[in-house]
Amino acid sequence: MNAELIYDNKKINLNVLTGTNNEIAIDITGLRNDTGLITYDPGYQNTGSCQSAITFIDGEKGILRYRGIPIEQLAEKSSFIEVSYLLIYGKLPNRAERAAFSERLSLNALLHEDMLHYLGNIPPTAHPMALLSNMVNSLSVYYPGFYVEDYNNETFNMMAARLISKIRTIAAFSYKKSIGEPFVYAREDLLYVQNFLNMMFSSPVKSYHLDPDIIRTLEVLLILHADHEQNCSTSTVRLVGSSKVNLYSSICAGICALWGPLHGGANQQVIEMLESVRNSKLSPKECIERSKDKKNPFRLMGFGHRVYRNYDPRAKILKEYAKKLLAKRKVVDPLLDIAMQLEELALSDDYFIERKLYPNVDFYSGFLYRLIGIPTNMFTVMFAMGRMPGWIAHWKEMHDSVPFKIGRPRQLYIGEPLADYVPVDKRK
Ligand code: ACO
Repeated sequence: MNAELIYDNKKINLNVLTGTNNEIAIDITGLRNDTGLITYDPGYQNTGSCQSAITFIDGEKGILRYRGIPIEQLAEKSSFIEVSYLLIYGKLPNRAERAAFSERLSLNALLHEDMLHYLGNIPPTAHPMALLSNMVNSLSVYYPGFYVEDYNNETFNMMAARLISKIRTIAAFSYKKSIGEPFVYAREDLLYVQNFLNMMFSSPVKSYHLDPDIIRTLEVLLILHADHEQNCSTSTVRLVGSSKVNLYSSICAGICALWGPLHGGANQQVIEMLESVRNSKLSPKECIERSKDKKNPFRLMGFGHRVYRNYDPRAKILKEYAKKLLAKRKVVDPLLDIAMQLEELALSDDYFIERKLYPNVDFYSGFLYRLIGIPTNMFTVMFAMGRMPGWIAHWKEMHDSVPFKIGRPRQLYIGEPLADYVPVDKRK
């Protein structure tokens, strides 16, 4: 199939590509050579930057699948480690593959002892995301010797396991540091999620009861965050990685991108927004009105999405999960009531209906993190922990692809056409 573009009375033929679920894309890679034109799309609102076999989203229908498997099935039946393998290696692991993967994770659970000195010297007031991005980038200092030119399965497998395993240790240790308790090391007899909970919440004087509901809740949260195709952080990992910098530094860039309140940082902002509604006695109705006021920078955090024009399927699962678990444990979270009132008001308000704004993954995840005992300023760290396998999978897919191209967008220059240098004493 071809598309035709008419420009300056000339007909230009453009290739048309079709995805496995019949998505259509016009290939404009030859456009510049044929015509001198570039395409213009600020914010990459309608630009396909790659072909990918990892995750499929249909934003109109609210569909999300990892390697073809619906997210609902994975959330119900799978584990975070299995999903990590699926995303990175393209298939669900058999028993032997899963055991080998788990062993590599266990081997990488500790931090290099020198990293602990580094961690120990970071001010306790640092935001956990600043600490995380620093520590992940510093993996290229403590575990050097990897260059993309040497890239092979053996080194990649170890690096991938190192990142997935160590982000858990860094997250737990940073929490311990923030509350002034000694670090708790990973235990060989515990699985990934159990280990994280134990490292977070046990201490030399206090053991931690591993509750199956809490373990499963965290497992589901991590699975739901594990990948989401070309979003701000994942595309950042690809763009930075396309210069052939190492995997750790590429992922550090992704972590920084995730931190922003319009992206993963929204999960912290949602709870802070709900708290401020409660504390300032602002009614949910006033909150909705404020978010619609174009003169007010306030937005309804956890609402809206570039791709979903329907309920985010992750938010749907998390909302039900939060309601059921809170009810089962007889926990009354007044913020959940405010959230549900806000959702009801928004979904029946013309402003939100016309713009197809629905709750996204960040709207309900915070209630579950709170139930687990994760402090609000660590919510985005939890998102990063979940997203780690997705970032790694995209980095690998890009490096395995042929041809391999460095990411380099174009721009439309709108500055001075030509200007003369003016000496400093003659400048206005
Ligand atoms: N509250 C109020 N109005 C909103 C909201 C919101 N949460 N989200 C979008 N809108 C409005 C915009 O003002 C705009 O209105 P206009 O057409 O009158 O100018 C319209 O809806 C479209 O919004 P854009 O910002 O152009 O949409 P975009 O696709 O660029 O942005 C984004 C998507 C960043 C997620 C946006 O919806 C937002 O800021 N949401 C709040 C932050 C948030 O929850 N982020 C997490 C996203 S999920 C994730 O990254 C994991």
